[in-house]
Amino acid sequence: MASPWLGTGAGRLTLNEPAPEVKADALDGAATAFQDSGMRPRLLVTGGSGFLGSALVRRAARRWETSFTYFRNSPPDLRGVAYRLDLGDEAAVRRVIAAARPQVVVHTAMGRGDDEHGEITARGAGRVARAAREAGAALIHVSSDMVFDGEHAPYDESALPSPVSPYGRAKAAAETGAREAHPDAVLARLPLLYSLDPPDPRAVQVIRDLEDGRPVTFFTDEMRCPAEVGDVADALLATGARALDRPAALPGTIHLGGPEVLSRWEFGTSFLEALGVPLAGVRAGTLAESGLVRPRDLTMVSRTTPRELTAGLRPWAAVVAAHRALS
Ligand SMILES: NC(=O)c1ccc[n+]([C@@H]2O[C@H](COP(=O)([O-])OP(=O)(O)OC[C@H]3O[C@@H](n4cnc5c(N)ncnc54)[C@H](OP(=O)(O)O)[C@@H]3O)[C@@H](O)[C@H]2O)c1
Repeated sequence: MASPWLGTGAGRLTLNEPAPEVKADALDGAATAFQDSGMRPRLLVTGGSGFLGSALVRRAARRWETSFTYFRNSPPDLRGVAYRLDLGDEAAVRRVIAAARPQVVVHTAMGRGDDEHGEITARGAGRVARAAREAGAALIHVSSDMVFDGEHAPYDESALPSPVSPYGRAKAAAETGAREAHPDAVLARLPLLYSLDPPDPRAVQVIRDLEDGRPVTFFTDEMRCPAEVGDVADALLATGARALDRPAALPGTIHLGGPEVLSRWEFGTSFLEALGVPLAGVRAGTLAESGLVRPRDLTMVSRTTPRELTAGLRPWAAVVAAHRALS
């Protein structure tokens, strides 16, 4: 049985009215114009081997001449020109951008486990931004709602970063680095990203924990605006198309939060239900009692982000319905 909150969403805050089936493909003005002229604009996705980056590369295939970077994991199943890139190597960043000659760069790469102090994430963003500007490329710099402290929601595009976690601090420093090096860059702040088909890496880990008998706790007081990764990839590609087509109409910061505010408990339990995973072993908890330092409420709103960029971000119930139709 569907969980009760999968219904109309009555009583919960709806941030962006969901529009029916607006696909970013249809908004891809510049990319379409290039295609009509027999040319496709050149796109470079850093972090193409990652969760978001691979969704971008897949969705870009029809309209963009795509290249992408990876660091440790060369993805075998992505179309496009692949470059190995270490964000820690400034000369390599320049070499890759010189070789790819992108008109648009979407920078998703960040340091991972070996980036304890966020240096690679922060400095790498500056390196990519500088090289993109010098090459005359537009830059969409991917950032996160985690730049906020979670105590002053809702956060619109004018809200100032106030990070409380190492990751949030690295992402805030990356925003500053990108903006300084490429003043025309678009900072795109994203919410918690997910995928049902196939389940995203975070969900896979939760399912593995449950299968191995490790209990999983979802917090009832941790609020997020989750968005489906493909929807966000489409919105970022539409942003890239706009950056080519009508750059003056793009604000310097955009928010691509999903249209609803859900607690981690609501989202996590219904996510597992949608996948048919038994909830035995799943517990409700509170961030307040956990002692963890994490932003509590990252409700994001889009006030100055062009409506056409947020219109395709589907509510959770619509994503579940599409998943059920597929399975
Ligand atoms: N996932 C979310 O819920 C979420 C939410 C908000 C914002 N974001 C933002 O979205 C972006 C992508 O996130 P994600 O979840 O897709 O991350 P991810 O799956 O961990 O991907 C990270 C990417 O960065 C690459 N990378 C790691 N270390 C590198 C280095 N030293 N030099 C160059 N590349 C390196 C990885 O390459 P290899 O795998 O080949 O090593 C991978 O392609 C990030 O900027 C993140 O802050 C994500």
